Amino acid sequence: MDLAYVIEAATAASYRAYAPYSNFRVGAAILTVGGAVYAGCNVENASYGLAICAERNAAARMVVDAADVDDRKIRLVAVVSPDSAPCFPCGACRQVLHEFGCEAVVVLDASGAIERYPFHALLPHAFGPEDL
Ligand code: THU
Repeated sequence: MDLAYVIEAATAASYRAYAPYSNFRVGAAILTVGGAVYAGCNVENASYGLAICAERNAAARMVVDAADVDDRKIRLVAVVSPDSAPCFPCGACRQVLHEFGCEAVVVLDASGAIERYPFHALLPHAFGPEDL
């Protein structure tokens, strides 16, 4: 799978964001070990605390649509915002991405260049399914 394709899926999703309160649009696209791509955007709510991040919506779509076990393991997630660059996953989303074995995070810097981080660099000493 072409990384440019995954970033494009995240970018397209960011323009679908429902973010009337923050005006901060985010798109995320998950590439699974099985090779599928699942995108999500942030969805806010008049009850502010109920906002859901793009990354967690993408993860939920993955779980719903996964064809098999490999399609529920995350090879990488690309996160894009037309309103800020780079846009890194929030702490809560890092924890949720770790649940599905996320191996890397891809963001775009201010010039649009691709930055790729190993997941453990963003969530060191993570607590996860393997700890239970
Ligand atoms: N947001 C995301 O969707 N993902 C992130 O990684 C950071 C924050 C959303 C949540 C909220 O709708 C808006 O951005 C401002 O925090």
